[in-house]
Amino acid sequence: MRKALIAGNWKMNTTPDEAKNLVRVILNELNNSDDVEILLCPPYISLLSVKELLRGTSVKLGAQNMYFVDKGAYTGEISPLMLSDLCDFVILGHSERRQYFFETDEMVNKKLKKALEYGLKPILCVGENLKTNEAGKTKEVVTAQVTAGLTGIKPTKELVIAYEPIWAIGTGKAATGRQAGATIGLIRSIVSGLWGGGTAEAVRVLYGGSVTGSNITEFITEPDVDGALVGGASLKASEFVNIINQTAKLKQAL
Ligand code: PGA
Repeated sequence: MRKALIAGNWKMNTTPDEAKNLVRVILNELNNSDDVEILLCPPYISLLSVKELLRGTSVKLGAQNMYFVDKGAYTGEISPLMLSDLCDFVILGHSERRQYFFETDEMVNKKLKKALEYGLKPILCVGENLKTNEAGKTKEVVTAQVTAGLTGIKPTKELVIAYEPIWAIGTGKAATGRQAGATIGLIRSIVSGLWGGGTAEAVRVLYGGSVTGSNITEFITEPDVDGALVGGASLKASEFVNIINQTAKLKQAL
């Protein structure tokens, strides 16, 4: 049985003070539930202070990116070595990284290998753009991204994959539960082909793209969808907690 995961990707939002306030409010509003794993991914500069605030709770901490070298002359980069004692998870290959910072599948693959080497659980993001979607080529693109991302990686149940169609990110136009469920089913079958059915059944696959308290039910009720990577709605404590609570309720009922 895969444990649901609700992850908040704060992106380039929150000053250090705002980050601390947001965590405090989220923790205050959270009910204890063992049915959902909760993950917060604040900006790098708030990782330490958020970690302090999360001490003694079951809420996990993640980074939004990292470089694939341990240390050295890479001005401005953050390494897996630096994150390893700090974080549980790291988001890799987010479409904004691919689009604005020219990250390739090859780079994402290197990052994945490094994350695993350092005991960080990677969240590999994949997803097609609007043009690809309208051309009916979602399957090809997602298959290529997952296959390239996992090249040379030994089967591991620690991997998380997030299916995030680019046209749904930050647009308010989420995929339907059926669309997400179908592509996520495809992703699981790709992982099964590469790593075998046992591991594929254990790997969690999330949906991301305009998830809110109003549409989370659609996604969570899809059998292959194991949770959500939430952007905008994770910056509003009560909305984020609402998403977590609905997920817990639905998972208890299943
Ligand atoms: P969104 O972002 O929820 O604001 O659409 C999701 C993401 O990019 O992870």
